[in-house]
Amino acid sequence: MTGYPERRLRRLRGSATLREMLAGVRLRREELIAPLFVCEGGNVRREIPSMPGQFQLSDDAAMDAVRRWADKGLRAVLLFGIPDRKDEEGSSAWDDGAAVQRLAAQVKRALPQMLVITDVCLCEYTSHGHCGTVMRRPDGSADVDNDATLQSLAKAALSHARAGADIVAPSAMMDGQVRAIREALDAAGFHDTGIMSYAVKFASSLYGPFREAAQSAPGCGDRRSYQMDYRAPRQAMLEAAADVDEGADILMVKPAGAYLDVIAEVRRRFDLPLAAYHVSGEYSCIMAAARNGWIDLRAVVLETTSAVKRAGADLVITYFAESLAEWL
Ligand code: PBG
Ligand code: ZN
Repeated sequence: MTGYPERRLRRLRGSATLREMLAGVRLRREELIAPLFVCEGGNVRREIPSMPGQFQLSDDAAMDAVRRWADKGLRAVLLFGIPDRKDEEGSSAWDDGAAVQRLAAQVKRALPQMLVITDVCLCEYTSHGHCGTVMRRPDGSADVDNDATLQSLAKAALSHARAGADIVAPSAMMDGQVRAIREALDAAGFHDTGIMSYAVKFASSLYGPFREAAQSAPGCGDRRSYQMDYRAPRQAMLEAAADVDEGADILMVKPAGAYLDVIAEVRRRFDLPLAAYHVSGEYSCIMAAARNGWIDLRAVVLETTSAVKRAGADLVITYFAESLAEWL
């Protein structure tokens, strides 16, 4: 090939300097959010078997991790609680003295610049593992009672706000959860506490390792009556529109890598900041292959995370946040 225009792309890529100048998609530490599993007890550091390199940490050990992350330039954490006691209602979720609430308060005291985001759901706290209050039908089958769950989610969000959370992140996929939480926060004077809604959350097999980490796999049934069907992508736009309307400040799509089309479409349609959650199964797949020497961990993590950003996410929630902070 010779001459114009066939050699245009070679001209654009041939110079390392020009390549760097044209690399418009650039990950920054500032746009990463690191998930953290906090459990009860002291000096606990329990590695999660299906998520090598990720731990259940008691609040003291978690503080060490958050300090280390801050030193590496990370700005935000997303907290998940692992309670000692689960019950039918998931009542530990709104216990002001529970691990998430204690850790949120400690982080805000020691590192006021660190943004504390808390996951608001009940599946980690309920004995049955569902994301809300379960009602049993006369025929013996069970389903989640959407409206009864809203009050529990609002109580949990309020408890997190009292502890000092900057942003609460409802992940239960109950209809009306953003409005219920916004009203509860406003009524209690927490006008400045934000809501990052898991607006578009698919019923995904990629949450498997998380459910091991949080011991939250449903005892019976699954989450398909409230999480989204991946075969019906247009419903994602209805979910996102509803959350915008109800008062969400930041939208989220989850999982990330298999849903880049959805990220791009939400980006195009809505002007709120958009987060994407690179979930536990995505982490585990990459780690497993890397540990077998089948892929280059660093290269694959940079490539997949950049893809999430390129699709349109402003923020990326990823278990690779600490590694990325070192590499970037
Ligand atoms: C709670 C919640 C889950 C995840 C985030 N919040 C689990 C689920 O819905 O089953 C999954 C995150 C991950 O897989 O990393 N509802
Ligand atoms: Zn849940």
